[in-house]
Amino acid sequence: MLQINNLLARTTRYQTQIQTAVDRVIRSGWFVLGPEVKRFEQSFATFLGANHCISVANGTDAIELALKALGVQKGDKVATVANAGMYTTTAVLAIGATPYFMDVDLETQVVTLEEVTKAINSGVKAVVVTHLYGLAIPQISEIANICTKRNISLLEDCAQAHLAKIKGKYVGTFGNAGTFSFYPTKNLGALGDGGAIISNDPAITKKVELLRQYGWTAKYQVEIPNAKNSRLDEIQAAVLSEFLPFLEQDNDRRRQIATHYSSLINHPNVITPPVKEKDYIAHLYVIRSAQRNQLREHLRQLDISSDIHYPIPDYQQPVFGKQFAQIHLQITEQLANEILTLPCYPEMSDQQVEQVISAVNSWCV
Ligand SMILES: Cc1ncc(COP(=O)(O)O)c(C=O)c1O
Repeated sequence: MLQINNLLARTTRYQTQIQTAVDRVIRSGWFVLGPEVKRFEQSFATFLGANHCISVANGTDAIELALKALGVQKGDKVATVANAGMYTTTAVLAIGATPYFMDVDLETQVVTLEEVTKAINSGVKAVVVTHLYGLAIPQISEIANICTKRNISLLEDCAQAHLAKIKGKYVGTFGNAGTFSFYPTKNLGALGDGGAIISNDPAITKKVELLRQYGWTAKYQVEIPNAKNSRLDEIQAAVLSEFLPFLEQDNDRRRQIATHYSSLINHPNVITPPVKEKDYIAHLYVIRSAQRNQLREHLRQLDISSDIHYPIPDYQQPVFGKQFAQIHLQITEQLANEILTLPCYPEMSDQQVEQVISAVNSWCV
């Protein structure tokens, strides 16, 4: 079966680098928040052209701690999209804040200036935007401008968009802060959980640094409220430092596969995403079809896995019961019924890419 991702192919390819990193940490005898974490934070910030980076245990904690550092408190309203897997909503709920859901654009599947403006007008304390599937939000500059003008904090969730950029500027550097996940399947993925916050603002950075470690201002002295323990391991940091120099070339390979798909998949019942330049790092390659479930079954019969990112809009998640029953975001709901993720990862062979293309093209509706 051709999987949508193959982490064993990845670890096999980078076996030498992984072994070097793990050996280095074991020999050092330092396993949490040590020199490897510092080194990775510095190089990741430099890579992205940000002043600071603070690593944490995962991408959801990164959003939660960044929002807290931006001053979001219990009872505040925070804007988010509802088509990005519930991660931001989980972070918002962890603070005791309430999500305000924004719709997205049908073609790009990311948020628009118009939706952010509506959210600001409705009184949100902060806006979280998601660079979904690896696509830098086309209107991110305009969104950042209006947030600045209206004095609303902007957090960019870049968990799926490591090194995506618009006009030479990396995502995560447009707003007050940017968050990342290093979950193993991400374009920059560790061998376990990991996350980070980048920012140019030293006050936000300092706050996050204290929030990730019990709220300590000195060892065993707890001064910052609502903190938690959310630290990156030395082994994960060392592995990420080994992977980082290969990120750009791995993104290029993903984009090459996506470009191939978009130019050669040709089926009247399938809409392919536009693949342009470095604004898309092809984290996920997502097509649309009104008969998505039939196409999925057809691919399964040809031994090709696919997935749906994501099948349930956040506000329809069972955890909410009827709380958001009155909310209907038309495009978000249409997309949840039409989207399908095809295999796309750097280790795919050309032959596997061709296999996916002919499988889609051979689908008889
Ligand atoms: C868009 C998005 N935001 C946030 C997260 C949360 O990251 P993590 O799984 O590391 O908590 C993920 C990934 O899982 C994601 O895809």
